[in-house]
Amino acid sequence: MEELNLDWGNLPFGYMKTDYNVRCYYKNGEWGELEISSSEEVSIHMASTALHYGQEAFEGMKAFKGKDGKIRLFRWQENAKRLQESADGILMEKLPIDLFENAIKKVIKLNEKFVPPYGSGASLYIRPFLFGIGAQVGVRPATEYMFVVFVSPVGPYFKTGFKPVNMLLARGFDRAAPQGTGHIKVGGNYASSLKAMKIAHDKGFASVLFLDSKEKKYIDECGPANFFGIKNNTYITPKSSSILPSITNKSLEKLAEMLGLKVERRAVPIDELETFDEVGACGTAAVITPIGKIIDNDTDKEYSYTKDDKPGKISTKLYELLVSIQTGDTEDPFGWVEILD
Ligand code: PLP
Ligand code: COI
Repeated sequence: MEELNLDWGNLPFGYMKTDYNVRCYYKNGEWGELEISSSEEVSIHMASTALHYGQEAFEGMKAFKGKDGKIRLFRWQENAKRLQESADGILMEKLPIDLFENAIKKVIKLNEKFVPPYGSGASLYIRPFLFGIGAQVGVRPATEYMFVVFVSPVGPYFKTGFKPVNMLLARGFDRAAPQGTGHIKVGGNYASSLKAMKIAHDKGFASVLFLDSKEKKYIDECGPANFFGIKNNTYITPKSSSILPSITNKSLEKLAEMLGLKVERRAVPIDELETFDEVGACGTAAVITPIGKIIDNDTDKEYSYTKDDKPGKISTKLYELLVSIQTGDTEDPFGWVEILD
């Protein structure tokens, strides 16, 4: 295999052109063949529901290279199921699990040389997405859909990597409504988070800590990642109908138990922020990103978690365990990792 001369250790979390992507269309009531493409563009009708009414959902997952040079996928089945739930939530045609599997495996194989080497800290980000196409003006679900998967080698989502970042607790913005679409991964949720995220970035914060939009009393999530807090040997993470059920978070719950912690998934009131020893954001892109400080944008109240700008002990253990399972350094007791042949 041709070796790429990339600065693997310093990749940003961003788009990089690779050789191929894969695509598939749903038309006349059935899914067509998976197509391989080297074009970075898609051509769709200008009256597509994806463009006007936000009929779009996506997924994000990572492939890792182990010490043995083999490529490992982490819990892709969960992403396949979540894409089906997202499709269901905005009335798109559900993508069959085997089509999802074939598509991601094919696109990884085709772009094998872009999978970052073991030890670089980078990984191959896989972005499957599904959207409504075909001419339509009425507010109705599309009858035709397109599914595409592209990949991109990436470094850490937050530039600092595994170092504490600061979050802005944004009371003046809602990401998603309690009975809305926050629990599925649809594009509209991200559009509605952009303004709050820009304000946070402009003020020097890594991201926004969203509150529940009904009562503004509880922690929801951290931009594109779930929130967790640690105290009294317990891993605590919000239960909310408007957050995305994070696969990373579910994995961390299991790993926390493995490390002897108790796990609580429940509403987390803002006042409880004062009581945590460690807090963090977690997700595929964010992995675990420790939070150093949270500042309330209304009251300027500051919650601080680090004195020496170092991640907390338990967050560090969880991070190391997760990454070592993903890369194959530690045996995977849960059957989460699949080695590609
Ligand atoms: N919350 C939001 C809003 C996200 O976009 C993501 C990213 O996918 C997550 C949480 C983390 O989910 P996961 O761990 O499944 O990537
Ligand atoms: C992920 O963690 O995979 C995400 O989808 C975050 C993304 C919106 C950047």
